[in-house]
Amino acid sequence: MTEKWWKNAVIYQIYPKSFADSNQDGIGDLEGIIEKLPYLKKLGVDALWISPVYLSPQVDNGYDITDYRKIDPIFGDNETMYRLIAKAHSVGIKIIMDFVANHTSDQALWFKESRKSKENFFSDFYIWKDALPDGSAPNNWGSNFGGSAWTWDDMRQQYYLHYYAKEQPDLNWENPRVRQYIYDMMRFWKAKGVDGWRMDVITSISKDLDFPNNPQSYSTSNQQNGPRMHEFIHEMHKEVLAPFGMMSVGESPASTSKDAPLLVDPQREELDMIFTFEHMHVDRKKNDINGRWALQKMDLVELKRILSNWQVDLEGKGWNALYFENHDRARVISRFGNDTNYRYSCATAFATILHGMKGTPFIYQGEEIGMTNPKFELSDYVDIELKGNYEEVVKKNKTLSEEEFLKAVHKVSRDNARTPMQWSSGPHAGFSTVKPWFKVNPNYKKINVETDLSSNQSIFNYYQKLIQLRHNEQLLLDGNYTLLLEKDPNLFLYKRESQQSAWYVLANLSDTPQEMPEIIQKEKAESQFVIKNNPNRTNLKDALAPYEAFIVSI
Ligand code: NOJ
Repeated sequence: MTEKWWKNAVIYQIYPKSFADSNQDGIGDLEGIIEKLPYLKKLGVDALWISPVYLSPQVDNGYDITDYRKIDPIFGDNETMYRLIAKAHSVGIKIIMDFVANHTSDQALWFKESRKSKENFFSDFYIWKDALPDGSAPNNWGSNFGGSAWTWDDMRQQYYLHYYAKEQPDLNWENPRVRQYIYDMMRFWKAKGVDGWRMDVITSISKDLDFPNNPQSYSTSNQQNGPRMHEFIHEMHKEVLAPFGMMSVGESPASTSKDAPLLVDPQREELDMIFTFEHMHVDRKKNDINGRWALQKMDLVELKRILSNWQVDLEGKGWNALYFENHDRARVISRFGNDTNYRYSCATAFATILHGMKGTPFIYQGEEIGMTNPKFELSDYVDIELKGNYEEVVKKNKTLSEEEFLKAVHKVSRDNARTPMQWSSGPHAGFSTVKPWFKVNPNYKKINVETDLSSNQSIFNYYQKLIQLRHNEQLLLDGNYTLLLEKDPNLFLYKRESQQSAWYVLANLSDTPQEMPEIIQKEKAESQFVIKNNPNRTNLKDALAPYEAFIVSI
């Protein structure tokens, strides 16, 4: 039986390029992570999910891998990675690596060989198709980064499939050799001590081999939950995850709480957890031609409905992965909240709601000090998705003006989370002594680790306390969940309850004071605050301040 250590763990995601630069080349690295282990230990997290550090041309910041067994020199070398694993383990922190096996880099040996002919060992490692009689691509599938998902290869005289950049060809999981090579790579890292995997777009690995056109040209609607997906994941579970007791959390963009158990019900032997995207779309217009750039006001009622469905529908059928931020998501306080007037309250309110739920919380670097989205000029951004989508949406289709696009970028682009970590108010925010690979958020003089730690309103300290609660409180682990006030557009209130105890978790997620809900007002005077972000809160009667949050034991 696998040990389910991750059930009362809190996992911290590191985006290495932007975390800490130890060798002063402007790029974060593994030695930088080693140096910050005491910081992470102090925060109290149990495991680190480290975004890709393998050899890569960095077209998509490492999500384009040339060699799964080699560390990219910009981050260090294999010995440093092994040392990082050992050092982390020595202080009780586990290591989760990023498993990017839907695609490789076009610089991978497998792809270089595959291109050469239709009859070599690697020919079927990728998805190749002939051109249509008029020379055009095999179908109208689109790439996530804009344009067609097919690129013509002169050498092989065929098209190859790529759901992301043309430099990220999709692997052919139908080929048993591909799968065995991947399982071997996983065994390699297990032998080095790695404890688990975050699985990049794992729900895209199986393709519809009839290659039907999408209803809308260049859309990506074909990409999820292909016919053999469950079979492949189950095989991987049998081959690697179960025998070596490795934790798994899969990225699953299209999952809803209803179908999630097909991936995470332990009896199906597939994955331990998945990251849904459902709750990340509550500020996006549905079915809009401009996709992620079509913004609307965040709908709190919808956010509550989705998160609560996941709580309820997975009860007894699977375990939730809880998150608001990662390297693909903007800063939650800038996106769903207020990052100026109420930064402390807002950051801690969203944290309270997330960490009070059932599941494993994931913290993204900088979230624990309330880092915010920068508002850069368009030319300052570097992300391939942003640039590709700009070409598509603004330049080619002209469905958004440049101003509208930039406005959306300021809210939701992936680069919002990728600015260098703000360690201090010193040069380059203490991230590096030289100019970093990507601009530092100009607010670093005010928002940084040093300042936060010495403040009497420290977001870090609040997270530290939440993490301790996750470790010590049985109720957080297994208490059941009930949403209350489901239609209230400002308050998020739910109850966690077991035979022994009951807690209310409450946050005012608005800019205005809100009356204390009656259900709380009726509670006993001796109710105890488990945690609160308003030091003046001493009763269960007074109105809630903007972004005030607490957990109270009744
Ligand atoms: C999801 C990753 O999180 C994202 O950063 C990446 O661009 C794509 N998958 C492609 O690997």
